[in-house]
Amino acid sequence: MLQVSREANLLLRPRRTRRTSAVRALVRETRLDPSRFIYPLFVREGRGIREPLPAMPGQWRFSPDRLAREIDDVRGLGIGAVLLFGLPEHKDAAGSGAYAEDGVIQQAVRALRAAHPDLVIATDVCLCEYTSHGHCGIIRDGDVDNDETLGILARIAISQAAAGADLVAPSAMMDGQVGALRRALDASGFTGIAIMGYSAKYASAFYGPFRDAAGSAPQFGDRRGYQMDPANAREAEREIELDLAEGADIVMVKPALPYLDVIHRVSSRVAVPLAAYNVSGEYAMVKAAAERGWCDERSAVLEILTAIARAGADLIITYHAKEASQWLTSR
Ligand code: PBG
Repeated sequence: MLQVSREANLLLRPRRTRRTSAVRALVRETRLDPSRFIYPLFVREGRGIREPLPAMPGQWRFSPDRLAREIDDVRGLGIGAVLLFGLPEHKDAAGSGAYAEDGVIQQAVRALRAAHPDLVIATDVCLCEYTSHGHCGIIRDGDVDNDETLGILARIAISQAAAGADLVAPSAMMDGQVGALRRALDASGFTGIAIMGYSAKYASAFYGPFRDAAGSAPQFGDRRGYQMDPANAREAEREIELDLAEGADIVMVKPALPYLDVIHRVSSRVAVPLAAYNVSGEYAMVKAAAERGWCDERSAVLEILTAIARAGADLIITYHAKEASQWLTSR
């Protein structure tokens, strides 16, 4: 940084470029754009359903037919992509609903693809929404079996690609998951389907509202044996390097707000797009405070999203996507 001499101090007035809103806009370093937002959506079985999520005010569970209508709004706002999570009618120990040909996510992707041929559709590749025990993989001897889970994750990704997904997003935090998906997709002819790795996904307390929405809380233990320790930042670099070596097209840090340092740390070092996931708990905190009148929702949300972009995220996965895009276009 430049050193400023004592005499020069009052010649230099940073306030000059803050004087009017037009000047501020001229010198602004970070700009938000709806095309960098990815909007996560929950899909459940049924017809004509749009059911509110209590822990995530302003978010819903949609049946596949209702989802296509919701997407009209999303497209109109210029939001870059959607990320779909499926909630099956029945869960089992193997999470078989995740790769069923007529599974909820496969139905939803087909319906969306038919209604919106050029919508960017990303799908979550994980087992926790589909397993009766709520863990992100297959259980053997009381623990999640990494290598057995890889085969199932690959099967899920192929079924989602076959239904019409553009981008598959493995979130199970199994070692080798990106490589397993890449090999399986390529072997099935899906060489053009991209992988967004949940590379540095922390074992976070901020996933609570999501687990409530998806009924995916682990029935025993927790996820600290596979998701990252919140205390580690160097390890995030390693996770990202591994995902890149395995062929990830986009990498991710998750959650976003408590990990801005991690986003910043890796952003200058990766040559692929970096996504940050502004998760359900981060969303719920703002909603809860705004409901009580403890903060102004619009400014808080735009400040948070700007901070995530400023830290270095190219893409922001956020439940605020619709509202934020409305605010950005009506400024
Ligand atoms: C699935 C998955 C989770 C989230 C995204 N994918 C839940 C978890 O790991 O428990 C959380 C997203 C959010 O909180 O918004 N593994």
